Amino acid sequence: MSTVILGIESSCDDTSAAVMRDGLLLSNVIAAQSVHEAYGGVVPELASRAHQQNIVPVVSEAIRRAGIERSELSAIAFTRGPGLLGSLLVGVSFAKGLAASLRIPMIEVNHLHAHVLAHFIRTEENTDAPRPRFPFLCLLVSGGNSQIIRVDSPFDMEIIGRTIDDAAGEAFDKCAKVMGLGYPGGPVVNRLAAEGNPAAFSFARPNVAAYDYSFSGLKTSFLYTIRDRLAVEPDFVERRKADLCASLQACIVEVLMRKLRKAAHDLRIAEVALAGGVSANSALRDALLDHAAELGWTVHIPPLRFTTDNAAMVAVTGHYKYQRRDFCGMDVQPYARVQPPG
Ligand code: KG4
Repeated sequence: MSTVILGIESSCDDTSAAVMRDGLLLSNVIAAQSVHEAYGGVVPELASRAHQQNIVPVVSEAIRRAGIERSELSAIAFTRGPGLLGSLLVGVSFAKGLAASLRIPMIEVNHLHAHVLAHFIRTEENTDAPRPRFPFLCLLVSGGNSQIIRVDSPFDMEIIGRTIDDAAGEAFDKCAKVMGLGYPGGPVVNRLAAEGNPAAFSFARPNVAAYDYSFSGLKTSFLYTIRDRLAVEPDFVERRKADLCASLQACIVEVLMRKLRKAAHDLRIAEVALAGGVSANSALRDALLDHAAELGWTVHIPPLRFTTDNAAMVAVTGHYKYQRRDFCGMDVQPYARVQPPG
């Protein structure tokens, strides 16, 4: 008998549901929330409310597109954390209700674990695509995380480096906000950077231990550069926007790559994967490919729809956990921080 998993993701500002049969993705529906654009960042209360509005239609659509009946579902996998509590609560509560009504098990999924396993999502189109071989390093860069993860198997992974303050995506977004570029700023910075000089400005590079990251100093340095130049040139940002974006992007990419290179060298791992929303950045992708050519790395960059928040990655993690009968009880609660409680 086949195993059909419904995946649900609601950790931040995307409501997503996906259906997977025996590890093959049948559908993946994502409803993004535009309500945050006016505020220059995700507003947790608004995110939670939008999830409440979206969850029923998104799950129904995922089941419809998969061409299955609800009664065919074997289990429901849902993101338990980390993320925004109010947002997670909507997905967790919905999963509980549906699982109880269908009398099927629930599978809790760690959001970061799911980002890493996104590399193993099988679709009709990518069945023969190469997957990362173990052990590999995964650079997970998003709006909330910047981590280097050593992955030894689908269930054996260790975060060996993490940001001690802001995430890389947050650095893009906050600096973009200072330039009045709207939210999320990362894609706009990426676009404008194509017209600018990456060596035009220099911003502070962090100096933190081992494989950890820090982006708050860079952000402050960017802010001070703009403040000081605006005092003498009121049209500074408007005139130099492309150069500012190119320099900022070059700086963030250099910081990300320096620690990744160090980890790959120290651990003697040449299999490298990218995950999270910032993997859409063209300069980061190019840097990774340049390193592959120079250092003999094999790199894995999944399609964009599987690097940003999505339920397909939750479903594939659920698929692996289902095979181990790794289910959770109805008393499961969401958690906001990186590690689950207890
Ligand atoms: O993984 P993700 O979709 O969800 C969150 O963690 O929220 O990542 C979103 C982040 C945002 O900070 C956004 O600005 C950034 O990814 N991002 C980019 C690009 N596309 C998205 N950053 C730089 N360049 C891009 N092309």
